[in-house]
Amino acid sequence: MKISDYLSHEELKRLASALLVVLGFIAIAAFFGFTVVPGLRYQAHDSGEALVQAVQGETGWLDPTDYPVMVREVIPPIDPRTVMTPNATLMARGRALFAQTCATCHGPEGKGDGPGGAGLNPKPRNFTASAGWKNGTHLEDIYKTLEEGVKGSSMVSYNYLTKKDRMALAHVVQSLGAFDHGASDPKAIASLEKLFASAGEVIPNRIPVARAVDVLCREYAETRPQPPTSTIR
Ligand code: HEC
Repeated sequence: MKISDYLSHEELKRLASALLVVLGFIAIAAFFGFTVVPGLRYQAHDSGEALVQAVQGETGWLDPTDYPVMVREVIPPIDPRTVMTPNATLMARGRALFAQTCATCHGPEGKGDGPGGAGLNPKPRNFTASAGWKNGTHLEDIYKTLEEGVKGSSMVSYNYLTKKDRMALAHVVQSLGAFDHGASDPKAIASLEKLFASAGEVIPNRIPVARAVDVLCREYAETRPQPPTSTIR
């Protein structure tokens, strides 16, 4: 049984060309639907509007983990005696830094109840309670947290701060909790002392991420040709 038993050669040809026309229409419709229309919509969306804009919340959404402006600094090695145990100047410096940098998440008294920490998972550590510390509560443990951050959480590394500032913060964190923080490992303390005494550090220039984004946006706007002004009113 052959198809030519039912349809003549002419009829087959007509059928084939009709099929070709239908396929052609589908191809054109698909081209418009998937390529031309989205392209036009993108263009309409892009033209005349403000260029890329840095997202800003009330205090700037990047604030909690952002870098403050810092000018490059070369810092000589520190005398360990000035940082291993708390003293008045160190604590004053630490408390100021804490209020500026940490309180948004950890709260002004370190209870883990700062406004920036409300939606975080895991929640910022409560420094007034001994439970749940991942790196530990010893001085060297808190120093490590500030050096490395806590993986998988919004506790980032604060190693852009000087070693002395990080030690000041570690003492302040301990001072906020009335519980026993335990005795430090003498070996860990000795290696920290060695680290402080042996090498100075260079603090590079830094600007906040939000400001860097603003600068990038401005430079991009300056190099990009202005979009044509619309004649339709
Ligand atoms: C963006 C919010 C945020 C900021 C700002 C922040 N932290 Fe944290 N911090 C967290 C979170 C969240 C955790 C809990 C991490 C976890 O449980 O995995 C944490 C945990 C900690 C811990 C406990 C780590 C442990 O062993 O479990 C210490 C210590 C700490 N932060 C110190 C600080 C200090 C000091 C500052 C300021 C320099 C600071 N944090 C700034 C969010 C923040």
